[in-house]
Amino acid sequence: MKLQVEIENTNRFYELKVNPNLSLLENLLRHKIPIGHSCGGQGTCGTCQITVKTPELFQPITDWEISFFQERYTQLNPERRLSCQTFFQMFQNRLNHNNSVLAHIIIPPW
Ligand code: FES
Repeated sequence: MKLQVEIENTNRFYELKVNPNLSLLENLLRHKIPIGHSCGGQGTCGTCQITVKTPELFQPITDWEISFFQERYTQLNPERRLSCQTFFQMFQNRLNHNNSVLAHIIIPPW
């Protein structure tokens, strides 16, 4: 599975081969993509927030994330996620001829 990472408001893009068993944050850090993670992936700091442009390729937002965002924002944005709490969701019918699928996220510059 491949992940296209766009750094917000820049022209920087990365394309990573990812491990679907790891969180998005863990995958980004393994590839040395700069992203905040002050709480170490515990889901409490919010510094790892990202925008997912292909939400269908990720597991649904968790109750933890919903509570986290409801405390901070007036409206839930289905594209806003905590990368430390976000995992891929694999659909065999979404794989292309290379047995791969491209997910797309946007992260803030760090
Ligand atoms: S690393 Fe702190 S909320 Fe994700």
